Amino acid sequence: MRNKMSSAQNSIPLRIGIAGLGTVGTGTLALLEQHAPLLASRAGRSLVVNGVSARQRQRVRGVAIERYRWFDDPLAMANDPEIDVVVELIGGSEGVAKALVEKALSLGKPVVTANKALLALSGTALAELAERHETSLRCEAAVAGGIPIIKGLREGLAANRITAVYGILNGTSNFILSQMRQTRQSFAHVLEEAQRAGYAEADPSFDIDGIDAAHKLTLLASVAFGVPVDFHTVHVEGIRHIAPLDIDFAEELGYRIKLLAIARHGPHGIERRVHPSMIPHSATLANVEGVFNAVYVEGDFCDRMTFIGRGAGGGPTASAVVADLVDLARGYYCPLFGEPVAVLTSSSPVAGIERRFGEYYLRLMVSDRPGVIADIGAAMRDHDVSIEKLSQHGRGAGPYNAVPVVLTTHAQGEPAMRQALKAISALPAVLEPPCLIRIEAL
Ligand SMILES: NC(=O)c1ccc[n+]([C@@H]2O[C@H](COP(=O)([O-])OP(=O)(O)OC[C@H]3O[C@@H](n4cnc5c(N)ncnc54)[C@H](OP(=O)(O)O)[C@@H]3O)[C@@H](O)[C@H]2O)c1
Repeated sequence: MRNKMSSAQNSIPLRIGIAGLGTVGTGTLALLEQHAPLLASRAGRSLVVNGVSARQRQRVRGVAIERYRWFDDPLAMANDPEIDVVVELIGGSEGVAKALVEKALSLGKPVVTANKALLALSGTALAELAERHETSLRCEAAVAGGIPIIKGLREGLAANRITAVYGILNGTSNFILSQMRQTRQSFAHVLEEAQRAGYAEADPSFDIDGIDAAHKLTLLASVAFGVPVDFHTVHVEGIRHIAPLDIDFAEELGYRIKLLAIARHGPHGIERRVHPSMIPHSATLANVEGVFNAVYVEGDFCDRMTFIGRGAGGGPTASAVVADLVDLARGYYCPLFGEPVAVLTSSSPVAGIERRFGEYYLRLMVSDRPGVIADIGAAMRDHDVSIEKLSQHGRGAGPYNAVPVVLTTHAQGEPAMRQALKAISALPAVLEPPCLIRIEAL
């Protein structure tokens, strides 16, 4: 990190333009106002909002925006000579958010953004644009809200080779899984409850299908391993298929189910995957509940550590946005991913999900009749999958005489497990698509 600020700059305010006045934008305005003297003292100069932009000027926002210069067009705000830094809080991987970031960086103006979707897809090109114009692109708020994980990895742990990062990066999914465990209600019921409480969007697919976590994982992997963003190589599965039954069985087996985002530097290359995982009760991540986020990191000199905090909401996310602004006001400079784009290792091989080696949980609904367990055992044997535990729970009920059968396996490769799963799914006695959950040794 180098200091680019001259002593003359030290006394003049940093003039900020904020585009997007929703949850994060209004939170950022409130924080900048409430902590103005503290921030000025920490940054060595005042942080002044000198322009705002959103779609609807008349909208009631809970913060007074009349005192700020209004721009209908956020790109015009970026172009304004009295704006030194642009804060992009609009969202979306394309459209106005992308155009705004590109415009500001091309003008040599630093950008602070919370936009993980944009950076997961275009982060390398935007980081390169920032470098070409000798300016900064910062994104602490894009991953895990108020947790300073980008800074933690990039600066605090800069001395280490990072070997693994495991994150609970989506508060909505974590809230749903926690509620399902506590209330024994179905996924659909708890999702509705989360939507009523404001923890889930009307269209929750980005959150519950793992895409939001995959965006954030993409950024963490780039910072942790010094590689370009590579969203399209992330294996993504969501939590829609998890039943209360699986949560109960996980508890009985000594595990808890979490939507984990995993980036590992393994022998075959870099693994990037997001999927429901069973982790031991004793793991710190197992006890991160509700809307909280957490990131567990392994490094060669620092060993292991876990960051826990609020991953969303106006206050925590504004805290991260303003931390980036304070760094800019102080004149700190650091490349987006900790190393200049030209130095990022684009040759690191990708270890796809087929490279995973580990244990598995499988839950089947089968018709309760003789020979079924033997057929399941034979399918596993035929594909070289070794069963650790297998149990049938209760006696059959309902029109199909359905009964759950649960098994866990010893550690083995993903391809063998998938082939065994295909064979088991085709058995006439298997009544529903099986539920497969990977067990992670944390
Ligand atoms: N919400 C969180 O907790 C959270 C946490 C971490 C990161 N983030 C990220 O932060 C960003 C903002 O999220 P948010 O939750 O604050 O979103 P939001 O509440 O939906 O607010 C979006 C804002 O962008 C404005 N906007 C939309 N299109 C625009 C356009 N064409 N020109 C100018 N302004 C436009 C909207 O204007 P109007 O108000 O006039 O409609 C609104 O003020 C996203 O990238 C999101 O992924 C959010």
